[in-house]
Amino acid sequence: MEFKINKARFDQRLAELAKIGARQDGGVSRLALTDEDKAARDLVVGWMKELNLQVHIDQVGNLIGILPGKTAEEPVVMGSHIDTVPAGGRFDGAAGVLAGLEVLETIQEQKIQTRRPIAVIAFTNEEGVRYRTDMIGSRAFCGFLSPKQAYAARGTDGSNFGEELKRIGYAGEFLCGSLHPHAYVEYHIEQGPVLDQQQITVGVVTGITGISWQEVTIEGQANHAGTTPTAMRHDAGLAAARVIVYLRELANSLGENQRATCGTIAFLPNAINVIPAKAVFSVDLRNSDESVLMEAELRLGDFLKRVEGEDGVSINTVQLARIQPEACHPDIITAITQSAQDFDYRHRVMMSGAVHDALIMARYCPTGMIFVPSKNGISHSPAEYTSLDDLEAGANVLCHTVLNLSKR
Ligand code: GLV
Ligand code: MN
Ligand code: MN
Repeated sequence: MEFKINKARFDQRLAELAKIGARQDGGVSRLALTDEDKAARDLVVGWMKELNLQVHIDQVGNLIGILPGKTAEEPVVMGSHIDTVPAGGRFDGAAGVLAGLEVLETIQEQKIQTRRPIAVIAFTNEEGVRYRTDMIGSRAFCGFLSPKQAYAARGTDGSNFGEELKRIGYAGEFLCGSLHPHAYVEYHIEQGPVLDQQQITVGVVTGITGISWQEVTIEGQANHAGTTPTAMRHDAGLAAARVIVYLRELANSLGENQRATCGTIAFLPNAINVIPAKAVFSVDLRNSDESVLMEAELRLGDFLKRVEGEDGVSINTVQLARIQPEACHPDIITAITQSAQDFDYRHRVMMSGAVHDALIMARYCPTGMIFVPSKNGISHSPAEYTSLDDLEAGANVLCHTVLNLSKR
């Protein structure tokens, strides 16, 4: 029997981190580079130091903790994020970072000295809620985005990424792009219903969805709600509503892997008796097939032109983020599967419909992901829940996967 991680210790760290940004309803709000994020970073860095890891803060605030190996070869890296959506759960991201810490502590207790170093990283602004390029930390870590570009990002609250990073004391000096992993393994809750419905403990991820984020601005004509005849209206609010309804039609018409969501909207002037002059809203399109994702973007573009003509409004779009789907590396998939088999955990291969830092890392180094079940498939919600037994199982698989990879 393979040795296991310490599940009580893992649970305790999860509970402690969940206190930072805790909401009355049991959820967590810890947006990137806020005071809550700073407090969470301080806690995680403190734990890294307690474990005597080599701790580095890089130029965009990624927290890197390295357990040295017998050689200075490229490390095997685990990671995820500790920022959350505004009313998120305790596990999205946090579980992956804390499982990584738990794995490193277990390896130390077992007095195992690995050939390669093993590291854990908490990446900055994975969610992309406050600064709406998601996964800014991993993009910069890999050199796909320069620190300068990251610093320039404007927040939805008008803040500036670079200023906020400095304000919370996490503009580090470790150079982005200077650490190339031998392999990257991300542990995460599934955030969907598959494992829970099928009562399977471990998901072995084969690929991660592609994603397209746009901000759509519709401009019409403000006018009086009582006197303006229907035929004379240029109602930006109505036009936005038409687009939102169309998003569902688009998803239905492009097959079950197509997702389309409007998650934010604002009307101007936002008054009960004024026809909206302006509507600004977000569109999140996803598909695991790049060609279908492109088709979704094209069809949406055509529909926006149609609404412009029919409603007498003007529509502009800004692309906030765009990434193609990526496959996980066959060697990492095999290593994860092997370690799930060694523990006799029920497991299956699956795609990820959520995006993760692993989507970025997959373009940089061999990458894989381990999923554990989300109760009722709920995530990005205070109701997010994964049982401690499942959390432990995933961390055991993570532990033996990275140990295995660190020998190669
Ligand atoms: C990240 O949580 C995403 O899938 O949007
Ligand atoms: Mn996440
Ligand atoms: Mn998330």
